[in-house]
Amino acid sequence: MAIKRIAVLTTGGDAPGMNAAIRAVVRCGLYNKLEVFGVYRGWVGLINEELSLLNHRSVSGIINLGGTILKTARCPEFQTKEYKERAYNTIKKNSIDVLVVIGGNGSFEAAHAFYKDCRVPCIGISASIDNDINGIDVTIGSDTAINTALSAIDNIRDTATSMERIFVVEVMGRESGHIALSVALGGGCEDVIIPEKEYNLESMCHGIVEGNLRGKISWIIVVAEGAARADDIAKQINDMTSLETRAVTLGHIQRGGRPTAFSRELALNLGSFAVDCLLRGDKDKAVGLRDGKMVTVDLEFAIKKKKLDVDRLYNLIKILT
Ligand code: F6P
Repeated sequence: MAIKRIAVLTTGGDAPGMNAAIRAVVRCGLYNKLEVFGVYRGWVGLINEELSLLNHRSVSGIINLGGTILKTARCPEFQTKEYKERAYNTIKKNSIDVLVVIGGNGSFEAAHAFYKDCRVPCIGISASIDNDINGIDVTIGSDTAINTALSAIDNIRDTATSMERIFVVEVMGRESGHIALSVALGGGCEDVIIPEKEYNLESMCHGIVEGNLRGKISWIIVVAEGAARADDIAKQINDMTSLETRAVTLGHIQRGGRPTAFSRELALNLGSFAVDCLLRGDKDKAVGLRDGKMVTVDLEFAIKKKKLDVDRLYNLIKILT
């Protein structure tokens, strides 16, 4: 079947570089004589038939913007048969041949289910600050989020050293310690608490007190939100060590901002590659970067829990402290 019409949507948490990916899908689609629809608010827009045809100008001036011009949303209702059928009706009514889904793990779960239940061909473009796509080394937006968090940690380091304090900094990552490990390593932080590894606060505090007796004056401990809350950890450290401890939660600032050169370039390359893949008939696949090359992985595989090189990175962080 010749592909004539495609639709693109962004869903789940936004990630810097999503706009660059939309731009590439739209312009490469048009270059290949396809009609390209933009669906608003992810699955919500597909359910409610909120979409419009995009042209070359629709994606002008967005390459450098964080967020997503198509808007995004979380849509738990999409798990139900009724809402999937409504989305399917939008696809049929508008004669859409392939759906391009830009998002992370949860978005790909939904895309895979949509293909399984309604046979709508979906191609996923890996975009999430959590870097949580299995079989893919790096997602669109994760480099930007790490740099944003790192810049905050550098600022905190100044005040931590000057006031001789302990800081506990909470970064995003509901089920993944990816951001936490990267910023703890790049920020020269003393410890890191992540969902993938058990932690022992007593022995951490023991190390802090010993270090303090040797003259060490400040610490930064990074916590992934999925493992613990910075406020709780800071209070416990304060109680156990009697050393002044502050908590900082970086939160959603990690999701915004101008995409780095790396996030943009990745988004543009993957957007173009996604169009190539759908034109050759790929479906139920995600596109991403692995070992420096653009690859496709089955969505069913992409949504499995991604393993991080936790022990090696954690040991390196401790050796370098
Ligand atoms: O998109 C991923 C993410 O930023 C996670 O790191 C975080 O736990 C979650 O989204 C926050 O979601 P929301 O913005 O819906 O509160």
